[in-house]
Amino acid sequence: MAASLGCFGCHGPDGNGGTRNPGSEEGTVPALTGQTQMMFVKTADDLREYVLDGAPRRKREDPDYRARMETAAIRMPAFRGHLSAAELEDLVTYLRAVSGQVLPEEALAARGAELAAELGCFACHGPLGAGGMPNPGSLKGYVPGFWGADFDDLVRSDDELRQWIAEGEIRRITEHRISAFFFRRQVIKMATYGRFVAPDDVHALAAYVRWIRAGAWRPLAR
Ligand code: HEC
Ligand code: HEC
Repeated sequence: MAASLGCFGCHGPDGNGGTRNPGSEEGTVPALTGQTQMMFVKTADDLREYVLDGAPRRKREDPDYRARMETAAIRMPAFRGHLSAAELEDLVTYLRAVSGQVLPEEALAARGAELAAELGCFACHGPLGAGGMPNPGSLKGYVPGFWGADFDDLVRSDDELRQWIAEGEIRRITEHRISAFFFRRQVIKMATYGRFVAPDDVHALAAYVRWIRAGAWRPLAR
């Protein structure tokens, strides 16, 4: 939805910011990712108001804020009337998911979240491992996510989970005639991190993937 509504035209590829905005305080349109949101919004309601009205009400009523917005070349538009209530909620969940603020409390999984952000797992696996990024030549046509039925097909045990992360493949797939065909043919392959991160870090990443898989983040994204 963010793509089809044109959000990335201003907020940069995948919402990572960087579009020049002369006359604005930051000099660029802010990112939607990497904890930048923290500097602009406090609650999910602020996000709803940014999308519907161009900014939260408390900001729009502040003359200083309005004056600052007027000096900038690019302004956040109001999308009210361009999306349904249900679509707004999907968009807010997406914004929360990419905000870098939806994090596990458990220490090992939290360390995994830090590593996943550093290593860029979500660039291929989608926001919070939603999956769905295109992958020509693969069995399903897209990169699998960390939730949903695809995950259960590809990961049957913690050993397999750690093997995926460390080695980028598991034997159950590479030794099976049909799945091996698609495994080799897919354009984007799972990265192999075993040579670059310590075994403890592989455990931490696995704990984080499990936390996402369990859906514990869902209430935090509301
Ligand atoms: C025409 C350019 C433009 C488009 C299109 C646009 N934005 Fe923005 N957006 C901005 C600017 C400029 C700001 C900074 C406003 C401020 O400083 O308060 C902003 C601020 C935001 C913020 C708060 C700051 C941040 O980065 O977290 C959110 C959230 C946001 N926009 C979401 C969206 C979403 C979602 C869409 C698509 C539905 C969208 N924007 C489309 C220009 C745009
Ligand atoms: C270059 C893109 C890319 C990056 C970066 C990447 N992956 Fe993957 N990953 C894939 C692809 C493609 C598959 C599917 C492989 C297959 O089916 O053969 C996959 C499969 C997986 C699986 C198997 C199950 C599933 O449904 O997702 C796990 C778990 C996984 N990756 C975790 C991670 C973690 C954790 C990171 C970051 C440390 C990461 N990946 C980074 C592309 C990537």
